[in-house]
Amino acid sequence: MYFSEIEKLRREIWESFEKIEDLSQLENFRIKYLGKKGKITFFLKLLKDLPLEEKKYLGKELNELKELLEERLKEKEREILFKEEDKDLGLDLTLPGRSPSIGTLHPLTQVIDELCEIFSKLGFEIVTGPEIETEYYNFTALNIPEWHPARDMQATFYLKNRALLRTHTSPMQIRAMLERIPPLRIVAPGKVYRCDADIRHSPMFHQIEGLMVDKEVSFSDLKGVLTYFAKEIFGEKTKVRFRPSYFPFTEPSLEMDIECVICKGKGCKVCGETGWLEILGAGMVHPEVFRVVNYDIEIWQGFAFGLGIERIAMIKYGIDDIRMFFENHLLFLQSFK
Ligand code: DAH
Repeated sequence: MYFSEIEKLRREIWESFEKIEDLSQLENFRIKYLGKKGKITFFLKLLKDLPLEEKKYLGKELNELKELLEERLKEKEREILFKEEDKDLGLDLTLPGRSPSIGTLHPLTQVIDELCEIFSKLGFEIVTGPEIETEYYNFTALNIPEWHPARDMQATFYLKNRALLRTHTSPMQIRAMLERIPPLRIVAPGKVYRCDADIRHSPMFHQIEGLMVDKEVSFSDLKGVLTYFAKEIFGEKTKVRFRPSYFPFTEPSLEMDIECVICKGKGCKVCGETGWLEILGAGMVHPEVFRVVNYDIEIWQGFAFGLGIERIAMIKYGIDDIRMFFENHLLFLQSFK
């Protein structure tokens, strides 16, 4: 018996070991090599007739091979048993894994977060307040008395006892000023409600209100902040324009438009052939509003603005039906990953 024969045996063993797939093949293999008449056993029996030196050397080789093989066979057996157990359970661990579907933030939440981040950078504090408001905060304190026609512009859901669902986030101006000593800078995002429903209007939608009060706050500060915001959210190249407007709680008042993102100012269906999209209302805080919260108008000045979140999201993502935000189709929501 020569060393080369043991090498041949070794190679044969490991090659056929790799091919073992089930328990019966494993048993046959064991008998073939380690059984009473097995090949390794046969070689081991031959050892006794060899000269001492060879006996020692080859004996060691064969015994090591035998031990290793016994160990590997035990591992193999466990492996096969596990696999069969999995099969019984209907499991196949060799299949590729199913990746968990991870949720996404709602597109409106993403826009709100983005807006809050933009205004935070400018030093605005983020505040929230109640969706059930009183008529006083929603209208009267904002210089919209009971007889004022501006109340009709906001189709209001009235509740009992002079309570209502807030029609805008502007009452947060009053709440924020009452709770603070000026100077202050706040933005207040949140849900608002109006009795209105079509492809552009939803009875529940979102606004963000902004208010800055300080000793020297001018109309150009307002224009600067709004222009900065528009460029941050719609891109550096965004063009803006300001138009005079009217709100009871600001004087003077303005509306800001951005150049139509679809036709780039040429005029199209989306912008009603004007080339511009209206995105917000703003103005200098009306003295009457300061009087309500007891701020001295000889010392304090301020500006306020308010905008619709859905409108911003629709322009930003090119969505033409506001109802898409609330129908929760998974494909729609997942496209905002
Ligand atoms: N509250 C107004 C609305 O819902 C929007 C608005 C206009 C808010 C002018 C303001 C403002 O703070 O200054 O139509």
